[in-house]
This record gives sequence, structure tokens and C-alpha cells, in this order.
Amino acid sequence: MREQLAKIRAEALAAFESVQDAARLDELRVKYLGKKGELTALLKQMGRLTPEERPVMGQLANDVRAALEGALEASSKKLEASALERRLQNEALDVTIPGKAVSIGRQHPMNIALDELKDIFIGMGFQVLDGPEVELAELNFDRLNAGEGHPSRDWSDTFYFDRDSRVMLRSQTSPIQVRAMDALPLPIRMVAPGRVYRKDEVDATHSPMFHQVEGMVIDRGVTMADLKGTLNTVAEQLFGEGTKTRFRPHHFPFTEPSCEMDVQCHKCGGVGCSTCKGEGWIELLGAGMIHPRVLEMSGIDPEVYSGWAFGFGLERLALRRFKIDDMRLIFENDVRFLEQF
Ligand code: DAH
Repeated sequence: MREQLAKIRAEALAAFESVQDAARLDELRVKYLGKKGELTALLKQMGRLTPEERPVMGQLANDVRAALEGALEASSKKLEASALERRLQNEALDVTIPGKAVSIGRQHPMNIALDELKDIFIGMGFQVLDGPEVELAELNFDRLNAGEGHPSRDWSDTFYFDRDSRVMLRSQTSPIQVRAMDALPLPIRMVAPGRVYRKDEVDATHSPMFHQVEGMVIDRGVTMADLKGTLNTVAEQLFGEGTKTRFRPHHFPFTEPSCEMDVQCHKCGGVGCSTCKGEGWIELLGAGMIHPRVLEMSGIDPEVYSGWAFGFGLERLALRRFKIDDMRLIFENDVRFLEQF
């Protein structure tokens, strides 16, 4: 038994000495000193000793227990100290390291162009309106004088939500004209930017979702001269003083007469180049005098009031403004692209 005690003592002390982590140390404690541990197991055999041997062995066993407990305590302290040391090292804070720069987002080129436009119109006394992207076909078409059978209502062009084509993703911002006429007192001077949707395949100049800006003025005695004067001023503010414009006759169901406005190419001055595809002019927007029937449908007397309206695609304007040649870049939102503005 003496030898067994000496063996346990030597083994346990060596194990306590070399242990590296607290969990393993606890396992060792159970193994040697626990209720079912090796030392206890040995003490249970004391009964087999002679009465003379018993106190001697008892004393010896107590010595071994005390030695093991001492070593266990020391080892545990050592582990705690090194754990603390490690933690302090890991959490050390070097206040002299330079901070990480926070990267700040940037305004999207479309918003830059839109903000410029809004500034111009607000400066002329227009208010900025908003309308829903999910719109009634009644407002998107009927109230704009494009009744049943009008080609623009076709299923192949329009995203309808229901079989009887009553609810749709608006295909133009023009229904905001109707909403404004229904909701606001006259006179009205408003612009309304927003997303519109058409069933177009994506390519360099098309997208099934794009943005338009609508504009409308209604008052007594408003004429085509007001339309031209206002839009000429806008063109000069956007593209520089002296920018030439031209108005070509066109057709829209909700205006009469209708026109399209071109601006003289700012790159070649009208001679013809790649920017204007050799034309010398760049098409900018559709416009016209609001059709009397449209005014009537909104309860406005066309004998007393008249108005003009315009609408254009914001992407086209932004592409030109920033000399971007593919519309897809506008929507992909690659930061390397966006950081250039
Ligand atoms: N809504 C027309 C379109 O999407 C653009 C337009 C043309 C709007 C003439 C107008 C306008 O307000 O008067 O093609």
C-alpha cells in the first residue's frame, strides 16, 4: 500500500504540474481526489491492514492528500493567472493606431439630376407632387383621354394586376396630373417625378422600370407661349445660357396641340456628332396644351381655364448630363460607378 500511495502521489503531482487548462485540471482533481478517485479507493482498503499498520498508513495517506490538495491549489492559481494574462493581452488597446475611415455614401446621379430640376421648378413657383406607382387604369388612361381601345393600353405594354385591366403599374407619371386636378385648388403649378413601368426588354436605352418627371400648369389665360417660355428657361438653366430649343408637332391623347421639344446638341452646336447621332438636336420631352376634354373630366371649365403639361424620361436626361452611355449602369448601383459623381 505504501508503494501504491507513493505512485499515486508521484503521478498526480506530475499531472497537476503539467496541466494546461482549468477543465483538464478539474478532471484530474476528480480522478485523484474525488469521492470515487484513486486515493479514496485505496483508503477503502485500510480495513485489510493490521491494527499497527493502520495509523501509519492513515498518516501517510493524509500526507499524500494534503500534498495533492496543495499542488492542485497551486496549479489552479497558476492557470488563473495565465488566463488573466492572456485576456489582458487580447484586450490590449493601442490608442496610437490611426482610426478606420468611415466610407460615406454618395448621391446617385439620378438624384443629382432630379434635385437640379426640382430647384429650377421650385424657383419658378412650382410645387413638387407625388403619386402612387400602383394606379387605376382609369387615371392612367381614361381620364387622360386614352379610352378603351387606345394602343397604349395593350396587355403587351402594360403591367396589369387583374384580368379586367383596372389596376396597373402606372406607365407614365401623367395620372398625377389628374390627381392634382382632383385634389388641388386652381391655379396649379406642379412637377411630379416618379417611377413608371412598361413591358420593355432591358438594353442600353430601355428598362421595364424607369423614371419620368411630369409638369403641369393650369390657370386663366395660359397659352402655348407660356409653355415655350417656361421650357426654354428650364433648358437654359440645365444646359447653359443661350441653349437653343425647337418645338416639333406631335400627338398625345391628353394634349391639343401636342409637341416634342428638342435641345440643340451642346456638344457640336447643331452641326451633328455622335452625341446627337448626327441630328444636331436631342429630343428632350413631350408637351402640349391640356386637352379641353381632360380639363372637363376633372370638372374644370375649359372656357375659363387653360393649361399646359410636359413629361420626360429622367434617365435620358441624367445619361446626357453625366455623359453615361448605358442606362443599365444607372440601375446596377456598382459603387465603382457611383463613386464617380
Ligand atoms: N406621358 C407621356 C409619355 O409617357 C409624356 C408626356 C407628353 C407627358 C406630353 C405630358 C405631355 O404631360 O403633355 O410618353
